Order: sequence, then C-alpha cells, then structure tokens
Amino acid sequence: MKQRVCILGSTGSIGRQALEVIRLNRDLFEVVAISATGRNQRLLALQVEEFQPEVVATLLNAELPEGPRRITGENANERLIQEVDADIYLIALSGTSGIMPSYLAAKTGRRIALANKESLVAAGRFITERASLFGSEIIPVDSEHSAIFQCLLGQDTPKVKRIILTASGGPFLRRPLNELERVSPQEALEHPLWSMGPKITVDSATMMNKGLEVIEARWLFNLPGEKISVVVHPQGVIHSMVEFEDGAVLAQMGSADMKIPISFALGFPFRIESGASPLELTSGSPLTFEDPDPQRFPLLKLAYEALEEETTLPVILNTANEVAVEAFLSGRLPFTGIAEVVKRTMDVLSARRVESMEDVMALHLEAQKVAKEMLNEAV
Ligand SMILES: NC(=O)c1ccc[n+]([C@@H]2O[C@H](COP(=O)([O-])OP(=O)(O)OC[C@H]3O[C@@H](n4cnc5c(N)ncnc54)[C@H](OP(=O)(O)O)[C@@H]3O)[C@@H](O)[C@H]2O)c1
Repeated sequence: MKQRVCILGSTGSIGRQALEVIRLNRDLFEVVAISATGRNQRLLALQVEEFQPEVVATLLNAELPEGPRRITGENANERLIQEVDADIYLIALSGTSGIMPSYLAAKTGRRIALANKESLVAAGRFITERASLFGSEIIPVDSEHSAIFQCLLGQDTPKVKRIILTASGGPFLRRPLNELERVSPQEALEHPLWSMGPKITVDSATMMNKGLEVIEARWLFNLPGEKISVVVHPQGVIHSMVEFEDGAVLAQMGSADMKIPISFALGFPFRIESGASPLELTSGSPLTFEDPDPQRFPLLKLAYEALEEETTLPVILNTANEVAVEAFLSGRLPFTGIAEVVKRTMDVLSARRVESMEDVMALHLEAQKVAKEMLNEAV
C-alpha cells in the first residue's frame, strides 16, 4: 500500500525537495494533496500535472490544470488538513502560517513530518500534548532534530546528559561586528552551506534559527533548556549530537542536503532513497567547533530566555522576529534592528498569559501589531 502524502507548502524549498524524494520512490508514496499561496502559479501547475493530487489548496485564486478538487481562501491550509485523509502530513509552510495547520494535524492520529519549526516554538505545548492524546507521531524534518531523533533511536533516553545542536554560523560569522548594521538583505541571503527559503536564511544569519531550534527541541524531546546546547560548526558535516551520562557522544553526519532528513521523515522506520549527494570525508575542510558569540548573536540568548518561561515569550519572540525579518528583507530595518525589535516587543508584552491555543493566536496578532510599531523606533 502506498503512503498517502499531503504536502503543505509544496512550492517552497522543503516542499520541492520532498517532491524530488517522492519522485524517486513512486512505489512507496502517492501525493494526495498539495498547498501553496498560489503566487507561484506556474510551478504549482507543473506539480499538479506531474503528481495529479486529489486536492489543491491555495490562499489566492490560481489558474491550474483541471482535475483536482480546489480549496481556496484564507483558511485553505486548515481546511486541507481537515478534509483530506492522508497517512503523512508534511508541514513545509514558512513562519506562523504553519501553527494552526500543525495543531490541526496533531488531531489526525497520522504522521506529521514537521519542517515548520515556528509552530512548535509558538505552540509546542499544545501541539505535542494534542499529538500524544490522538496518537499522531511527529517526525522532525529540521536536519538538527532529525539528527537527534536518529541518535536517540534505541537509546536509554533518561540517560541523556544534553543534546548539542550544531550551527553553521551563517554568512556573518567572521564579519567585523561594526559592519553588521550595514549588511544588505542580499548578503544575508547568501548562506554558505544551505539553500533555503528567505525567512530561514535570514534567521540563520542572525542565529535566531538556532534559537527557534532550541525551543523546538525542548518540545520534540521533552528536555529543559539547560540540557540543550549550541555549538558553531561551520562545515555543517555533523548535523547534531547527543551526549549521554556515561560520556558517550553520538553524532549524525551527512552532506548538507535536506533530502536526507525529508526522506527519513517520510520513510521512517525504513531508510529510502533520498537522491542526496554523498558526504565527501577526505576532500572537505577539517571539522571545527566553537561557542556562539553572544555579542554577535543576541537573538540566541533571547530565545533561551523565552524558553525559560515556556509559553508566552516564545510566541512573542517568534512573531516579532517574523515581522522584523520581513522588514529587513524589504529594506525597512537594518540587520541589527531585528534583535532590537524582538527584545522590545518581548518587554512590552511579557505580562500576557498563554493557556490555550486561542491565547497563542490572539497573542500572535497582538505581537504583530506591537512589533510593527517598534519597527519605526528601531530604524
Ligand atoms: N528550507 C530548508 O532547508 C529548511 C530547513 C529546515 C527547516 N525548514 C523550515 O521549513 C519551513 C519551510 O521553509 P522553506 O525554506 O521551505 O520556506 P519557503 O521556501 O519560503 O516555502 C514556503 C512554502 O509555504 C508556502 N506558504 C507560505 N506562506 C503560506 C501561507 N500563508 N499559506 C499557504 N502557503 C504558504 C509557500 O507558497 P508560495 O511558494 O506560493 O509562496 C511555499 O510553498 C520553515 O518553517 C523553515 O524554518 C526549512
């Protein structure tokens, strides 16, 4: 029996690579539904022609080949999850648009292949509680979390001393600090190792990406912040590590190719063909490790602070960052202003309380408004 796969965000970096993996494993998977905003009509039309899904969901009205049932409108992703019966829901939407779909997918009792880290950052408690209540398994797609998931298989998990997330350091790892204020969006989008969507690429340059991953790891692996550490490893060969109480450290390695964790999340517990390029061990640079510089990457510290509080601050951190990254990319905010906007928005809204999914979404809207006001002050 083929696994029925529903891909939310099929035209994005993860979505396209997932379809490449499925193309190599047609005997194992069937694409039953895809979604995108509808802005990239041409690519979506090609995907419809090639994979012939039963359903296509778009936010906008896109002109697409006849055949699939259409779901259109602001809640298209949410309706897609509720109306399509799939074995695997791959959530590859970017940013906060993934929060509600992940929450809804947690009720299906099926597999969630989760790329959208923002959903666990903002609503980790509610999504993971719901997933365990309804028996939905969450398999991480993020390469670091996939690495940790793999290192933990068959292990004595209470004996985990800490997990170690590796970070490439992004394009500005060696840039003099006094130049950071003037770096351009184009420079921030030139990631030394990974080719990804624009938001996560800027998050890698500020290292907010690692901060979001620390919070994501807290919910995926049920570990407190003090058991989650970060090390800068610019070569990106080790995707993350787990240290056990007996001193053993397990690491997962591979080329910097997201098709590896994507294929793992789709095929688990089996290893399937991924199409990834092999790891060249002897021709690459020597592997190095260093601590992240808190002055260069202030957002990482803010993420740890947010994690300490668990439910309110992560929502604010996530939303304010999204607003600030968008402003940076459109030239309305300097690179160093991103951390400022996040910090100030957290300060203003820190007294709010989040006790339900409704609170998450309400605080998200409030944080969006406050962060937009902060933009003017940080310019
Ligand atoms: N890319 C990576 O290598 C990578 C690695 C680890 C984790 N992740 C995580 O995976 C997620 C996706 O990242 P990405 O790099 O693939 O992003 P991306 O390239 O920007 O793609 C995002 C996808 O989501 C769709 N989308 C965005 N907003 C939407 C909305 N409101 N409603 C419906 N569809 C929407 C986009 O559609 P359009 O094309 O129509 O705009 C596109 O298909 C992020 O959470 C990211 O942090 C990515």
